[in-house]
Amino acid sequence: MQILDGKKTSIDIQEELSQKVRQITNSGKKAPHLAAILVGEDGPSKTYVNAKVKACQRVGFKSTLIQLNSNVSEKELLNQVDLLNKNKDIDGFIVQLPLPKHIDENKIILAVNPEKDVDGFHPENVGKMTLGLPTFLPATPNGIIELLKRYNIPTSGKNTVVVGRSNIVGTPISILMSRKNYPGNSTVTLAHSRTENLKEICSNADILIVAIGISEFISEDMIKQDAVIIDVGIHRVKDSSKKNGFKLLGDVKYKEVAHKSSYITPVPGGVGPMTIASLLMNTYIACYGRDK
Ligand code: GUN
Repeated sequence: MQILDGKKTSIDIQEELSQKVRQITNSGKKAPHLAAILVGEDGPSKTYVNAKVKACQRVGFKSTLIQLNSNVSEKELLNQVDLLNKNKDIDGFIVQLPLPKHIDENKIILAVNPEKDVDGFHPENVGKMTLGLPTFLPATPNGIIELLKRYNIPTSGKNTVVVGRSNIVGTPISILMSRKNYPGNSTVTLAHSRTENLKEICSNADILIVAIGISEFISEDMIKQDAVIIDVGIHRVKDSSKKNGFKLLGDVKYKEVAHKSSYITPVPGGVGPMTIASLLMNTYIACYGRDK
């Protein structure tokens, strides 16, 4: 069993970006500028957004955090999106999800200028991804792809099972893993809460990507010997022995699954940090274009 070390890989990527940005800014060009809109007081969302802002500082990007009250109107949020669309200094921005119930997420996603949509959530960018055209790939799926690439994990002809069909992770990673490219060329099954015989389907996976959002959902008896396990879940569970009062668990029972796998992402330190690296890569592209 080998750990897919997302934390280290993310730091490697950040160092690469940091070097490139230093060179470019030394030649007189501007630094990439990422903005993030955070609505409300959701603890995990605050943590993620703060981590994204901090990462910008580490690699020499500019960042702007816009914090809005949880009772902000949809109209006011659309107005903030419009200001960022028009702000020439901002290369890319994100609106952290989930949003409060009174706001229509799809309306907000549609309002983002696709050229600044570094989350890759706008339908124009989702469409381009589906067609295999260059675009901003959504951060978590792109982070998984980058991790598979950097560990040279074979994917061609393999059975990849994705558990969970969210717009942010499950659906896009199922598209990316089946595209004609590396990592890809997999035979993909997209399983979800209505799937029958889930255990049997998972047991057939050479690569199992779990993004169902249920803590420790996948157990040892659900996986194939030597499968590659990618755990997207992250759950705060009360733990009085920890200084901050909680521990983090994934969607996979790590302890019992790890020894049966060939590669596995830990939680924390697996997919999470790769999501941040991937957002930074998209912001770099939004500012300078793709490296030739
Ligand atoms: N909420 C959970 N993951 C994400 C993400 O990648 N981007 C945004 N904007 N919100 C999220």
